[in-house]
Parts: sequence; C-alpha cells; structure tokens
Amino acid sequence: MTSKKKPKVYITRKLPDAVETRMRELFDAELNIDDTPRTLPELVAAVQTADVLVPTVTDRIDQALIEQAGPQLKLIASFSNGFDHIDVDAAARRGITVTNTPNVLTEDTADMTMALILAVPRRLAEGSRILTDNPGEWAGWSPIWMLGRRIWGKRIGIVGMGRIGTAVARRAKAFGLSIHYHNRKRVSPATEDELEATYWDSLDQMLARVDIVSVNCPSTPATYHLLSARRLALMQPTSYIVNTARGGIIDEAALIQCLREGKIAGAGLDVFENEPLVNPKFLKLSKEGKVVLLPHMSSATIEGRIDMGDKVIINIRTYFDGHRPPNRVLPGRS
Ligand code: DGY
Repeated sequence: MTSKKKPKVYITRKLPDAVETRMRELFDAELNIDDTPRTLPELVAAVQTADVLVPTVTDRIDQALIEQAGPQLKLIASFSNGFDHIDVDAAARRGITVTNTPNVLTEDTADMTMALILAVPRRLAEGSRILTDNPGEWAGWSPIWMLGRRIWGKRIGIVGMGRIGTAVARRAKAFGLSIHYHNRKRVSPATEDELEATYWDSLDQMLARVDIVSVNCPSTPATYHLLSARRLALMQPTSYIVNTARGGIIDEAALIQCLREGKIAGAGLDVFENEPLVNPKFLKLSKEGKVVLLPHMSSATIEGRIDMGDKVIINIRTYFDGHRPPNRVLPGRS
C-alpha cells in the first residue's frame, strides 16, 4: 500500500487546540504555538516551502509576497471570512487557489452587532464604568440619571444585506426596529417580506432617514470609505453608526469630526482602519460616552473558531483530493 505524502501546511497563528490537533493528524502542519505574529521574512520563507498557507486577517498576503512564492504553493486556505488581506487576483495569476471560511461567523457577528446597537444609545459601557472605576460615586437610582435613547420603534439602515446584514436585520426586527437596507442587489421578495424590509437603491437617501446605521458590507476597493465625510454628513444628529465589518469602510477622520461636532450622536466600533492601532481621538470620545470600542471581537466565540478550523481543513482536504474546494474565492471579487 502506498501512503500519500501529507501536504506541508503553514499556519500563521495559534488556532484552537482541537483544530491544531486535527491538522497535525492530517497534514505536515507547522503550527504557531506561542501565537507570535509572523514577520514578513517568515512569511516569505513559508510561501517558498509550504504547499498550503493558512493565514488570518492579521497577515498581509499581497502581490509582492505572492510573487515570491515557490511553485509548490498551491493553496491559500485563509482562516477568515473576509479576504481583503489577500490579493486574490495576484494568487490566481500564479495558479494559487484561495479559500475562506464563510457562513460560520454570521450569527456570532450579528449578535455582537446587536450588542453595539444597544450599547451606545443605552450607555451600557458608561454605566458599567461608573461602578467599576468610581464605585463610591453612585448615589442610587434617580429618575433623570443615565438616560439613553430608546431602540424600540426606531429605524435601522443596514449597509450590505448579505448573510451578516440579514442576520442583523432578523435580530433588529425582534427589538422593534423597522428594517431599511442598501445593497448592490435587492434581496429576495421572501426575505423582504419576512423582515418587512424597505430597500433603498440610494445609500445617501437611506442614511438621511434612519436612526441607526449598521455597516455589514465586505471591504473591497469599491467600499473603501463608502461612509465618506459627505455621506456621514447626511446622517441625523440623533443617529448612531455601528461597524462590525471593516474599519476602512468608514472614513474614520470624518467620523471623529462628526462625533465631536455632534453631527452624529454615537458610534459602536469593533473594527478600525489601522488595526491594531486605534486612533487616540476615539479613546477621548469613549470617555465622553460617544463611542463604544471593541477590539475586533465580534466573531470571537470558541464554537466559531472551531467551525472556521473545520472549514479550513475541508478546503485543504478537498483540494488535495483533486476537487474544487467548497469555499473557493474567485478572482475579481476583492
Ligand atoms: C473575518 O474572519 O473576516 C473576521 O473579521 C474575523 O473576525
């Protein structure tokens, strides 16, 4: 009996133990046990020796790196839903297949989006800080203390009605929000009926009419600064914006200015333009209760990470069994 040579798989970050163990069983897997982010020279060495690279959203797999890949590199099986960190077109030109891990982060991300939608108008982080930072300061309940803004009965405008946008809409509807959305394509009549959703082909017009904006579209060259200074200026001064997609979709400098000048009431942000750096002006706004900031954790559940690992494994195995992997990212989509 001939035993097939295991593909050499280079994994850039620490993954859950269950995923790493399975990868060691199936592949010649190089793990990153202490989770130190890989340097560029390490990534170059990896693409010159491994058959499969398993990066995450923290690795920049750009054209310059891909051009240094050896002929053995066949697959970039990203441990991520988004693939804006990978130059998919450059990979295709080198005959390298790219895959991602869609679907498994949808519900977790939608949950955290909903948490941010509630957190800012209802002053959740501010209230918690009062007790933890200055415990003696709370004099007890008062009718006019810590008043926020009601969610029920307001309008949400979802920018990007894909899987996550739709999951946010389902939750928002249960919280009494009426659903408005802008998307490249209108969703099916059945989904619109279920959500009682109103479609806006003009993003500008929708922004001016909703109370909460939720950013749920992918990051592509076309969505870079989609929420530009001009568009943010269309929002109402009592409105809020929540972003759990990618930082670059909102012009951060313009958002900071709108928040400072009271042109937008508040923001809930899980993602930032220059992660892991966060603009210090946001920290000041956080102290003033105008923003709630999270460190890119909207998909962070152990179940979700294990599901992502399973998807990566299936994509690698399918590829090396000679079939098209289920989560192939086609060129021209980034
Ligand atoms: C992804 O995988 O794209 C997410 O941003 C991780 O949370």
